Amino acid sequence: MKNGYERFIRPLLFSLDAETAHHFTIALLRQASQFDFALRMLRPFQSPPKPKVLFGLSFPNPIGLAAGLDKNGVAIPAWAALGFGFIEIGTVTAKAQPGNPKPRIFRLPEQQALINRLGFNNDGAEAIAERLHRLRRSGRWPAVPVGINIGKSKATPIEQATDDYLYSFRLLRDFADYVTLNVSSPNTPGLRELQEPQRLSELLHAIGIERGTAAKPVLVKISPDLSSVELEAILAVCDGNGVAGIIATNTTLDHSSIPPASDEDGGLSGAPLREKSTALVRAIVGKSAIPVIASGGIFDAESAREKFQAGAQFIQLYTGFVYRGPRLLGEITAKL
Ligand SMILES: Cc1cc2nc3c(=O)[nH]c(=O)nc-3n(C[C@H](O)[C@H](O)[C@H](O)COP(=O)(O)O)c2cc1C
Repeated sequence: MKNGYERFIRPLLFSLDAETAHHFTIALLRQASQFDFALRMLRPFQSPPKPKVLFGLSFPNPIGLAAGLDKNGVAIPAWAALGFGFIEIGTVTAKAQPGNPKPRIFRLPEQQALINRLGFNNDGAEAIAERLHRLRRSGRWPAVPVGINIGKSKATPIEQATDDYLYSFRLLRDFADYVTLNVSSPNTPGLRELQEPQRLSELLHAIGIERGTAAKPVLVKISPDLSSVELEAILAVCDGNGVAGIIATNTTLDHSSIPPASDEDGGLSGAPLREKSTALVRAIVGKSAIPVIASGGIFDAESAREKFQAGAQFIQLYTGFVYRGPRLLGEITAKL
């Protein structure tokens, strides 16, 4: 049976172009984040806690908001009020950037999927650090862990990627409970090359020196399109550099499940990604002791359970949340 969001709100949102619907939703949640009474109105969606501790942090439940939904960190209190156990904002880049030309988000309702080629549109590390500083002062900083996902600015050549990440890391780390290095979005040319052992090693080494001993957990977000040889090399580099966790996975460039008539360039997310990303979670857990956060095609309690059975410690939602709405959180926690 359809929930209230699916019956009443989704048809309205889906009558708008995908990016307009996204901005409309974010604008509402941004407004709600300013007022205690509005935040209280979101709380009925919350489900009973399923607490968990990892990276020395306490999570009220293991279901997080995936990166990309709140790239600029404008609605953090609202996500917490809706019941997310942790919130990952970003991807934030060193420089503010507009992203790719529109249209750049596409719905594929028959496949329960999205394709996006946004290209890290965001306000940039400085503006976002300032926003997070104001949120701290406002007293509305949430009680749940907040992760900050950082990536490379489009204008920065790949050879200077490390400095670009370091710039954002320095500005943002004090606001983050953990920092995710995104080396896997398909929409920034060359970004995925940072998954190559040599480049990843250089990046992790530099971040490791920067974070010093008062270590913030650093996570790496990887692509679902890696071969097992590539995955093994990444895991070895992560193991050797004290990476606290791996987020598996980002969107895929494998569009083989999409009919050519509805296909678009960009990263594919949602149901068609589910099996591929679960297989990667299983492969990581089989080869390494690094904790895994699973993301990819979680639409219900069953697909969430699949990720935990594959060995994930936590899960993150994006496309499933767009299609199923906030009740999805309660539906999953009820069956944990
Ligand atoms: C429109 C859109 C924008 C996204 N932006 C980002 C991003 O900025 N950074 C990132 O690490 N992942 C981004 N992602 C990937 C999601 O965080 C998630 O890892 C991926 O979509 C797989 O999960 P899902 O199938 O539940 O959507 C984006 C996904 C979508 C659909």
